[in-house]
Amino acid sequence: MDLLRFTTAGSVDDGKSTLIGRLLYDTKSIFEDQLEAVAGASRRLGEDRMNLALLTDGLRAEREQKITIDVAYRYFATPRRKFIIADTPGHVQYTRNMITGASTADLAVVLVDASRGVQTQSRRHAFITSLLGIPHMVVAVNKMDLVSFAESVYDEIVRDFGAFAAKLTVKDITYIPLSALEGDNVVEPSTRMPWYRGGPLLTTLETVTGNARRNAIDFRFPVQCVIRPHQDFRGFAGTAVSVSAGDDVVVLPSGLTTRIKSVETLDGPQPMAAAGDAVVLTTTEEIDISRGDMIVRRKNLPTVARRVDAYLCWMAATPLVPGRPYILAHTTRRVQAVIDLVEYRVNVDTLHRDAAQTLSMNEIGRVEITTADPIFFDSYRLNSATGSFILIDPATNATVAAGMIRGETQADTQVSAGVTWEGWNIAREERESQQGHRAAVVWLTGMSGAGKTTIARAVERRLFDAGRRTMLLDGDHLRHGLCGDLGFSPADRAENIRRAGEVARLFFEQGAIVLCAFVSPYAADRARVRALVPAGRFVEVFVEVDVETCRARDPKGLYARVAEGRIDQFTGVTAPYEAPSAPELTIDTRVISADAAADMIIAFLRQPTH
Ligand code: ADX
Repeated sequence: MDLLRFTTAGSVDDGKSTLIGRLLYDTKSIFEDQLEAVAGASRRLGEDRMNLALLTDGLRAEREQKITIDVAYRYFATPRRKFIIADTPGHVQYTRNMITGASTADLAVVLVDASRGVQTQSRRHAFITSLLGIPHMVVAVNKMDLVSFAESVYDEIVRDFGAFAAKLTVKDITYIPLSALEGDNVVEPSTRMPWYRGGPLLTTLETVTGNARRNAIDFRFPVQCVIRPHQDFRGFAGTAVSVSAGDDVVVLPSGLTTRIKSVETLDGPQPMAAAGDAVVLTTTEEIDISRGDMIVRRKNLPTVARRVDAYLCWMAATPLVPGRPYILAHTTRRVQAVIDLVEYRVNVDTLHRDAAQTLSMNEIGRVEITTADPIFFDSYRLNSATGSFILIDPATNATVAAGMIRGETQADTQVSAGVTWEGWNIAREERESQQGHRAAVVWLTGMSGAGKTTIARAVERRLFDAGRRTMLLDGDHLRHGLCGDLGFSPADRAENIRRAGEVARLFFEQGAIVLCAFVSPYAADRARVRALVPAGRFVEVFVEVDVETCRARDPKGLYARVAEGRIDQFTGVTAPYEAPSAPELTIDTRVISADAAADMIIAFLRQPTH
């Protein structure tokens, strides 16, 4: 039977749970025992009539607090259609659930309380609906009983909401005046609003086109797990999007090619599978494929990149920190990521783009993200499954944001055309276990003359003497040769640090403790380097000294030349230095000797967590 997935969103008091309860009750989707339980609970709460909201608020906690706290899926059916409701709560801090629950919905019901008018939260929900690409929206103007079913109140809300919605991409919007509490225009047409010519909510739910959202064209098969019940069978489990035996495929990220041998389903091998089926694929060649890889058709590849441009809905109580490592979970893959910058924040009342450095809870903005390893994606617009991701805080394991990918960041594509990532020859872990120590990137940042090079040299000498594998990258060295074409403009410094970071990463992956001494005055440049290595392996050391001390030291006579006007854009004098906001170590070389600083760094590297 035909199926419609829809979502409901409203503020705590908009009556969303009552509306769902009313839909279930009036369509006779409720069992007797549930009804009795609700009647009993209503009496215990001292309410004289049956509280339909208690039907939907299935969780105990919310019965007590009377707020909805998690996504719940509810099913009901009428003779015309089956329905799945992603019941996403409207309480301000739970925007998260709206996003996770709504991403496959065909329709969103946005509630507006007739007695309060259009609130910010309703606009936010409408904006998220639009961002998620949900094709149909119903604006349910609820609690009409509280405004005596007045047409003028309804008209005013429709005008107000309409002016806002004109700026959204959702074009199919239906307005319905209703009272969930009293049952007007939910399932049964109301007799108390003769001025309203449309049908009740259920009619819209039964008649809009459904199931149009899944991308059934592009074969993308994120491998969920490898199945090996016995020697002779090796299959890869996942959710299919139109695949047939005989298809020529390529495996990402290895780039190895093979052919689909069979498509196994619950009903045995099939010549092909349809979108959304859970299947196990086998391949003609025995090639190395593991969880998190993606199998795609050779002639229809997703974008493979490490920098994405995305919309982000921030959901955590602690605000976004640019440059901090997060885990990006995308399809069946998890990679380390940093947010390089927030391009703008959307004001959900006006839909204006406000300048912003960060996003706080429930704020939505456009960001640029760099991942440590490439991800394989499509734009959210083309494919909501391979175009969406969540960000996880590695310290707490909590989901902090949901994202929708617009595309690859345009600024600087960092993979040459036609080149695929081949993987490392010897895994870093193998090198680490042979050499008996872990690899790391120690990044010393600070002004010229702060003492970065002196400290880096002292650390390297000790590590070397102790038999550790090391590599020293110093700004002055790289600027002879590799970066000799670069000056000191912000763009040139960004490129300098990018190259230094990429070199550091190559040595890191070969097992070395890489000591890097660069002024690296811009936080975003450093953040990008941090993103190149796994969490915990990047040690940012802020070598902190005031400019007067540097000037007094002036080891290379540069400050004197700056004073004569012979060098411009000099960090700390005529160009900015952005101090790290959360360095692993801070060393003030006015009070700490280079030797003591080296001790601190080595002690840090010895920590078991590191
Ligand atoms: S960075 O800003 O791009 O990170 P990097 O560390 O590679 O700089 O190089 C800095 C070195 O270049 C300094 O140690 C200093 O000797 C020299 N230098 C020359 N001109 C400048 C300048 N305008 N600003 C900073 N350092 C400069």
